[in-house]
Amino acid sequence: MHQDSTITDNTVTITDSLCVWQDVSLISFHCPEIARNARPGNFVNIKISPQNQPLLRRPFSIHNVEGETVEIMAKSVGCGTRLLCETPVGSALQVLGPLGNSFSIDTPRFDSALLVSGGIGTAPMLFLEKELVAAGKKVHHIIGGKTGQDILSMGLSSCHIATEDGTEGYKGTVIDLLHEKFDSFTGAGRLKFFSCGPNPMLHALAAFCNKKNLPCEASLESIMGCGIGICYGCSLELKNSFDNDRSTILLCQEGPVVDADRLLF
Ligand SMILES: Cc1cc2nc3c(=O)[nH]c(=O)nc-3n(C[C@H](O)[C@H](O)[C@H](O)COP(=O)(O)OP(=O)(O)OC[C@H]3O[C@@H](n4cnc5c(N)ncnc54)[C@H](O)[C@@H]3O)c2cc1C
Ligand code: FES
Repeated sequence: MHQDSTITDNTVTITDSLCVWQDVSLISFHCPEIARNARPGNFVNIKISPQNQPLLRRPFSIHNVEGETVEIMAKSVGCGTRLLCETPVGSALQVLGPLGNSFSIDTPRFDSALLVSGGIGTAPMLFLEKELVAAGKKVHHIIGGKTGQDILSMGLSSCHIATEDGTEGYKGTVIDLLHEKFDSFTGAGRLKFFSCGPNPMLHALAAFCNKKNLPCEASLESIMGCGIGICYGCSLELKNSFDNDRSTILLCQEGPVVDADRLLF
């Protein structure tokens, strides 16, 4: 995973806000400082309102970068995200970023990338796909959800969909789909997995990749107070990669992207 360092706190103006599906909005803002330094997997920490509510910033993956414009995909789950999705174009936000580490698109050497995501975990996958394609990699997405309404595949190419109730694509989980389709992905050279989504999905994928001895990176979530290593709100225990012991990391500093092999079951 790459650790990136040029972080700026910016007052930005919302240039576009589009409700793409029920409780999910794509929100764009002009911010050359973040656009220039962002890498796939990075996130931004947003002060949604100048008022006291919500007091703390909220973290969002960088969904896309177009020129000097940064885009996030926000799902309304509580007071902060609801307010953000309802904030009109032209409003100001305070945005700190880019934060955290990023997916490794060069190491270990691989030819073909399988991007496995679930629900709002699909948010960082467009930016990742663009950078992987620019680096000459083949890309396939495997996207899962409970129902077709959870599938957020807008703008992505080569998508294989799995829904637990069968309302869209394959009926089952992304892991069931992977078992079924795996041979069709192995003909395109060395494989690497990249993932983001609910913890049970990430754990099952980590076990699958471990069995097949394939590299897999996972972008994790936790409650984050500050995003910059001060509040210790995001501490998380992981296996060490170098011995059989465990260590505690701050996800906002050494994550959100970790080797899936390090997840504890
Ligand atoms: C690195 C990172 C990247 C993220 N990227 C995105 C993204 O691209 N798009 C997006 O919509 N969301 C993303 N999230 C989750 C998002 O930050 C939370 O949904 C948001 O902070 C909730 O704020 P709220 O005020 O709406 O909810 P609150 O009113 O604070 O809480 C509402 C409910 O959401 C739960 N919740 C709060 N924070 C989180 C969290 N981090 N993860 C899971 N549940 C949470 C609470 O426990 C509560 O049940 C990301 C989180 C992290 C850590
Ligand atoms: S969010 Fe505060 S230390 Fe990580």
